[in-house]
Amino acid sequence: MKRRARLGQVRKAVIPVAGLGTRFLPATKAMPKEMLTLVDKPLIQYAVEEAVASGIEEIILITGEGTDPIVEHFARQRGLERELKKRGKAGEARLVERLGRLARVRTVRQAEPLGLGHAVGCARRLVGREPFAVLLPDDLIDAALPCTKQLLEVHAACGGSVVATQRVEGPALERFGVMRVEPAAATRRKWRHRLFRVRDLVEKPTLARAPSSWVVVGRYILEPEVFDFIAAIRPGKGGEIQLTDALRIAARERAVHALAFGGVRHDAGDKLGFLRATLYYALKHPELGSAFREALKSLKL
Ligand code: G1P
Repeated sequence: MKRRARLGQVRKAVIPVAGLGTRFLPATKAMPKEMLTLVDKPLIQYAVEEAVASGIEEIILITGEGTDPIVEHFARQRGLERELKKRGKAGEARLVERLGRLARVRTVRQAEPLGLGHAVGCARRLVGREPFAVLLPDDLIDAALPCTKQLLEVHAACGGSVVATQRVEGPALERFGVMRVEPAAATRRKWRHRLFRVRDLVEKPTLARAPSSWVVVGRYILEPEVFDFIAAIRPGKGGEIQLTDALRIAARERAVHALAFGGVRHDAGDKLGFLRATLYYALKHPELGSAFREALKSLKL
């Protein structure tokens, strides 16, 4: 029986994976960036697990050229499961089976890389008229309460669209969407000084033109009206259809909130950030952590 969505319930997450991964070449020549291994699982798995831990049931991957391995990673592979069991590897068989059952994964192809807004717009038919989450897998967020779940709580209380934010000082800010914000009435104590009403957004401004140091981090809860805004905008920064520009309309005509999320964010979108994230997650790993710490010490850096 098909489950019906409760009003306002967020069941679907859109995860764009069609990027070219140019910053990781040559590693990403024949393999999508999202399949790079971070400690013991591919980058994409962190985002999908966060979505699932936040109550999301359906993942919509926006795919491009060469992204089949990502889809395959979350598909059932009964042959492999059977073979592992036959060889007495029950633990590994469970691991593989769990991955195949994690979420319902659907895909839509972005024929050309025309920007993040365009990528999200490709999900319109699969999302339908319900609010949905967007996760950018380059932004790795480690948090006791998953970041997407934190945003969903704000969405349930305030309605409208919600984005994750953090402060970034100095020239690093120029790599983000930057917002003009005002404090929002925090209906819950835990949101005090952390919840904002977004008044304006600019995609990757120069430092001099940045409206504040509050940047958009790659986690969003969006109302379906954003598809109309995406369809209405012209190419923006870098000649691309920018999600930030669609949110700008949403901030003016509807409501957009920003939550300074709790947790640690890593930018796994470039080599150094990816290495830092690898160290962080390896040191925290329940089985590898302490041995890895010793291994680092033995390098006598
Ligand atoms: C995208 C968005 C940007 C946002 C960033 C977060 O940029 O366009 O607004 O601040 O993600 O990581 P990208 O990193 O894809 O260039």
